[in-house]
Amino acid sequence: MKKLVLTGCSLMFMLFLAACGSSDDTAGTPQEAYENNCAMCHGQDLSGGNGGPPLDNLGSTYTKEELVDIMENGKGGMPAGQAEGEEAEKIAEWLLEQQKQ
Ligand code: HEC
Repeated sequence: MKKLVLTGCSLMFMLFLAACGSSDDTAGTPQEAYENNCAMCHGQDLSGGNGGPPLDNLGSTYTKEELVDIMENGKGGMPAGQAEGEEAEKIAEWLLEQQKQ
Protein backbone atom coordinates (compact mmCIF):
# COMPACT_ATOMS: atom_id res chain seq x y z
CA MET A 1 0.00 0.00 0.00
CA LYS A 2 2.70 2.42 1.00
CA LYS A 3 4.66 1.58 -2.13
CA LEU A 4 1.65 2.32 -4.30
CA VAL A 5 1.29 5.79 -2.82
CA LEU A 6 4.96 6.53 -3.40
CA THR A 7 4.74 5.41 -7.03
CA GLY A 8 1.73 7.61 -7.52
CA CYS A 9 3.60 10.60 -6.16
CA SER A 10 6.67 10.17 -8.30
CA LEU A 11 4.49 9.67 -11.36
CA MET A 12 2.76 12.97 -10.63
CA PHE A 13 6.13 14.61 -10.17
CA MET A 14 7.36 13.33 -13.51
CA LEU A 15 4.21 14.52 -15.28
CA PHE A 16 4.66 17.90 -13.66
CA LEU A 17 8.25 18.16 -14.92
CA ALA A 18 7.24 17.01 -18.39
CA ALA A 19 4.44 19.58 -18.50
CA CYS A 20 6.82 22.38 -17.56
CA GLY A 21 9.41 21.31 -20.10
CA SER A 22 7.02 21.07 -23.01
CA SER A 23 5.26 24.38 -22.35
CA ASP A 24 8.67 26.05 -22.54
CA ASP A 25 9.34 24.42 -25.89
CA THR A 26 6.13 25.45 -27.56
CA ALA A 27 6.22 29.04 -26.30
CA GLY A 28 9.94 29.47 -27.00
CA THR A 29 11.66 32.05 -24.83
CA PRO A 30 12.89 35.31 -26.40
CA GLN A 31 16.39 34.25 -25.46
CA GLU A 32 16.04 31.03 -27.47
CA ALA A 33 14.72 33.02 -30.42
CA TYR A 34 17.70 35.34 -30.13
CA GLU A 35 20.12 32.40 -29.95
CA ASN A 36 18.56 30.79 -33.02
CA ASN A 37 18.29 33.91 -35.17
CA CYS A 38 20.81 36.51 -34.04
CA ALA A 39 23.58 34.99 -31.92
CA MET A 40 25.59 33.75 -34.91
CA CYS A 41 26.30 37.38 -35.84
CA HIS A 42 25.80 39.28 -32.58
CA GLY A 43 27.26 36.74 -30.12
CA GLN A 44 25.59 34.47 -27.53
CA ASP A 45 25.97 37.17 -24.86
CA LEU A 46 25.07 40.13 -27.12
CA SER A 47 28.70 41.20 -27.19
CA GLY A 48 28.92 41.11 -30.99
CA GLY A 49 32.08 39.95 -32.70
CA ASN A 50 30.88 37.58 -35.47
CA GLY A 51 30.27 40.30 -38.04
CA GLY A 52 27.52 42.07 -36.08
CA PRO A 53 27.92 44.94 -33.60
CA PRO A 54 27.26 44.38 -29.85
CA LEU A 55 23.60 44.70 -28.87
CA ASP A 56 23.98 45.18 -25.11
CA ASN A 57 24.88 48.87 -25.28
CA LEU A 58 22.12 50.26 -27.46
CA GLY A 59 20.80 52.22 -24.46
CA SER A 60 17.76 54.09 -25.72
CA THR A 61 19.01 54.35 -29.31
CA TYR A 62 16.09 52.30 -30.63
CA THR A 63 12.46 51.89 -29.71
CA LYS A 64 10.84 48.49 -29.81
CA GLU A 65 9.29 49.38 -33.19
CA GLU A 66 12.67 50.34 -34.64
CA LEU A 67 14.23 47.09 -33.44
CA VAL A 68 11.42 45.10 -35.06
CA ASP A 69 11.98 47.10 -38.24
CA ILE A 70 15.71 46.27 -38.24
CA MET A 71 14.95 42.55 -37.78
CA GLU A 72 12.32 42.50 -40.53
CA ASN A 73 13.96 44.81 -43.06
CA GLY A 74 17.66 44.64 -42.22
CA LYS A 75 20.07 47.52 -41.72
CA GLY A 76 23.31 48.22 -43.58
CA GLY A 77 25.23 44.95 -43.57
CA MET A 78 22.48 43.06 -41.73
CA PRO A 79 20.26 41.01 -44.03
CA ALA A 80 16.46 41.45 -43.82
CA GLY A 81 14.13 38.82 -42.40
CA GLN A 82 16.08 37.73 -39.31
CA ALA A 83 12.81 37.57 -37.36
CA GLU A 84 9.28 38.66 -38.16
CA GLY A 85 6.03 39.63 -36.50
CA GLU A 86 5.40 38.39 -32.97
CA GLU A 87 8.78 36.73 -32.72
CA ALA A 88 10.54 39.98 -33.65
CA GLU A 89 8.48 41.89 -31.05
CA LYS A 90 9.32 39.31 -28.41
CA ILE A 91 13.03 39.59 -29.18
CA ALA A 92 12.85 43.42 -29.26
CA GLU A 93 11.27 43.56 -25.78
CA TRP A 94 13.81 41.13 -24.45
CA LEU A 95 16.71 43.05 -26.06
CA LEU A 96 15.58 46.29 -24.42
CA GLU A 97 15.62 44.54 -21.03
CA GLN A 98 19.23 43.42 -21.59
CA GLN A 99 20.71 46.92 -21.96
CA LYS A 100 23.55 47.80 -19.61
CA GLN A 101 22.59 51.45 -19.44
C1 HEC B 1 23.95 37.61 -40.84
C2 HEC B 1 24.40 38.28 -39.64
C3 HEC B 1 23.34 38.93 -38.77
C4 HEC B 1 22.24 38.35 -38.20
C5 HEC B 1 21.77 36.90 -38.32
C6 HEC B 1 21.61 39.38 -37.40
N1 HEC B 1 22.30 40.55 -37.51
FE1 HEC B 1 21.82 42.32 -36.61
N2 HEC B 1 23.36 43.22 -37.56
C7 HEC B 1 24.28 42.62 -38.40
C8 HEC B 1 25.20 43.61 -38.91
C9 HEC B 1 26.37 43.34 -39.85
C10 HEC B 1 24.80 44.85 -38.37
C11 HEC B 1 25.42 46.23 -38.63
C12 HEC B 1 24.57 46.89 -39.68
C13 HEC B 1 25.09 48.25 -40.09
O1 HEC B 1 24.84 49.22 -39.34
O2 HEC B 1 25.71 48.31 -41.15
C14 HEC B 1 23.64 44.57 -37.52
C15 HEC B 1 22.96 45.54 -36.81
C16 HEC B 1 21.95 45.28 -35.91
C17 HEC B 1 21.31 46.27 -35.06
C18 HEC B 1 21.68 47.75 -34.98
C19 HEC B 1 22.84 47.90 -34.02
C20 HEC B 1 23.33 49.32 -33.89
O3 HEC B 1 24.19 49.52 -33.03
O4 HEC B 1 22.87 50.20 -34.62
C21 HEC B 1 20.40 45.64 -34.30
C22 HEC B 1 19.49 46.24 -33.24
C23 HEC B 1 20.42 44.24 -34.70
N3 HEC B 1 21.37 44.06 -35.68
C24 HEC B 1 19.61 43.27 -34.16
C25 HEC B 1 19.57 41.95 -34.60
C26 HEC B 1 18.65 40.97 -34.10
C27 HEC B 1 17.67 41.20 -32.95
C28 HEC B 1 18.86 39.83 -34.80
C29 HEC B 1 18.08 38.52 -34.70
C30 HEC B 1 16.66 38.58 -34.91
C31 HEC B 1 19.94 40.09 -35.74
N4 HEC B 1 20.34 41.39 -35.58
C32 HEC B 1 20.48 39.16 -36.62
C33 HEC B 1 24.32 41.27 -38.70
C34 HEC B 1 23.36 40.33 -38.35
